[in-house]
Amino acid sequence: MAASTKVRVLELYSGIGGMHWALKESGLSFEVVAAIDINTTANQIYRHNFPHVELLPSSIDKLTAAQFESWDIDAVLMSPPCQPFTRMGKKRDVEDIRTKSFIHVLHLISVVKKKPRYILVENVKGFETSEARQRLMTTLTQCSYHYQEFLLTPLQMGVPNCRLRYYLIATLAPNGFSFPTSESILEDLPKEASHWLTYNQPSCDQSRDRSTPTQNGDVCDASERTLAEAGENLRQVADETHQEYRGCQRLKHFLETQPCEYFQDFLLDDKELTRFVIMDIVQPSLKKSACFTRRYGHFVEGAGSIVQMTSNVNAVEAVSKLKSRVVDLPERPLLGEEELALLRDLQLRYFTPQEIANLLCFPAQFELPSELSRIQKYRSLGNSLNVHVVSLLIRLMTL
Ligand SMILES: C[S@@+](CC[C@H](N)C(=O)[O-])C[C@H]1O[C@@H](n2cnc3c(N)ncnc32)[C@H](O)[C@@H]1O
Repeated sequence: MAASTKVRVLELYSGIGGMHWALKESGLSFEVVAAIDINTTANQIYRHNFPHVELLPSSIDKLTAAQFESWDIDAVLMSPPCQPFTRMGKKRDVEDIRTKSFIHVLHLISVVKKKPRYILVENVKGFETSEARQRLMTTLTQCSYHYQEFLLTPLQMGVPNCRLRYYLIATLAPNGFSFPTSESILEDLPKEASHWLTYNQPSCDQSRDRSTPTQNGDVCDASERTLAEAGENLRQVADETHQEYRGCQRLKHFLETQPCEYFQDFLLDDKELTRFVIMDIVQPSLKKSACFTRRYGHFVEGAGSIVQMTSNVNAVEAVSKLKSRVVDLPERPLLGEEELALLRDLQLRYFTPQEIANLLCFPAQFELPSELSRIQKYRSLGNSLNVHVVSLLIRLMTL
């Protein structure tokens, strides 16, 4: 491909356009010639951000080889539905109707005359042991692709958010990739990507309005440390002192800077507060948050972290003691007014959709249409991907 020509991209399962934003961040010269998704809300967000892309609101099973060939595709980027492979789900894999379209895409790749030079697949951890992945491998091998698989989390790239995901990049370049590949799934990016990590990390900070944009992500004062220690047992995904994640920026750089009243709407109500034992409660000075899923905003367990807005150490200590008292009881006791008052003092709130977009490394230009409900926004973001991680993989793939 001549250096001056644009890479023609087909974005499948395009959702809110995470792949498209990752392409932009990667610096690749590209054109998304078509995007396809069946979800109305996701499509509304995609169109709002990329009004000029041909977005097909139809099922990928209906895509024909002729249509595929008419687009003259150089790259296919796709995040097929992950429910058939998730740890929490039934893991019905290729038996799940939601995998049908992915199998169809593999068929299309194997029959079209001009095969896409590049393929990128994103899915949940769990996909790597599936039959669907076996079929992907078979198709790629039969079509002479070189490929590399990864299991990566944004924490490895300095972003304080867990989102361990399976990735595959493939190329038809005769000599394969320009980094050493392995048959095993890599759990780190090759050293060829290391200088992009250091280069890209600060861009997360500069691109949006944060409280201390010039501050190094590692700055944490004594009172923040005391507060963090007091609330240690309120975490579900603790351990940001883990060597690997020390380089992460602090969550405060990803939070919105708004007057207190703005966050009133995001405060947990009393019913939600009573479930505090199972929540991952984070403070802005910490370096790790839980993975935000599509259930965030109406489920407090395993759907993402909750922000603690108070900086009152006594308030945090009181709730920490309350948790120690009740956490191992065979049955959760009903909380009285006094205990609820302690919990209210923490000023616990949900991350806002904008803050989740920030943690997923969507750039400042990304917009969620204001007419969408908060739950629609959470659901769409929870289904999406980490833009920064994917942009690094696109760079590696096309290097
Ligand atoms: C994991 S999400 C992809 C998210 C996307 N990468 C993003 O950045 O938002 C999977 C997407 O596949 C879409 N989808 C599922 N089955 C589909 C099908 N048969 N045809 C088209 N889209 C489908 C869903 O609507 C959902 O938006």
